[in-house]
Amino acid sequence: MTTFIVANWKMNPSTKEEAVSLLLAMEKLGKENKKVIICPPFPFMSLSKNVILGAQNCFFEKEGPFTGEVSPYMLKSLGCNYVIVGHSERRNFFQEDSSLIRKKIEVLNDAKMTTILCVGEKSREDSDVVETITRQIESVLDGVSLQNIIIAYEPVFAIGTGDSCSAEIAKERRELIKEVLFEIDKNENPAILYGGSVDSNNVSEYIDKAGFDGVLVGGASLNKDEFKKIVDSV
Ligand code: 13P
Repeated sequence: MTTFIVANWKMNPSTKEEAVSLLLAMEKLGKENKKVIICPPFPFMSLSKNVILGAQNCFFEKEGPFTGEVSPYMLKSLGCNYVIVGHSERRNFFQEDSSLIRKKIEVLNDAKMTTILCVGEKSREDSDVVETITRQIESVLDGVSLQNIIIAYEPVFAIGTGDSCSAEIAKERRELIKEVLFEIDKNENPAILYGGSVDSNNVSEYIDKAGFDGVLVGGASLNKDEFKKIVDSV
């Protein structure tokens, strides 16, 4: 069984020099059963040939007049096979909705690339959390092959706040996600990751206690030593 440690750098760092230094530190972190995937901003994706690359976003067409957009096929030609889709920051700042997210997943499937689909409730007080997460998954994956899908459960309240979700709650959500995926396609068993204020102190809670197949790390992936500790603790 492979464990995934995915680094989402978001819009960081602000210089090429810093990105090179971070990439160098991350080059040899993974092992065969421990896949470390680095998702730098687009301009920094070609700076290392020695990491497994992921992207933070892509467009839903192969090519064409779409100013400012990046095609999954461009990413693939750089050796990138993973793309984060549906991150709450994109849903929030760019109004990405289910129909857009679904189109992205479809083109990624066509390109035989792996989608890392982010889902999660906004607030701890969401009384409809089962409905929220079920809808987020079904609306974009119903009728779609799950062969190249990874799900990242990222409760929005835990992103970038230090207010991580307890392992108990996260485990419940993982079980819910598993059930919803099973209803969509009984033959596939997509990996499910946890994301939201992951650090070297809490990472094993999510893997060992809550049973996740890995983690999606934001802020802590910008600190070489901390990120190495996270990988080592998995
Ligand atoms: P933080 O680890 O900074 O909370 O970010 C999580 C995240 O959004 C990863 O995609």
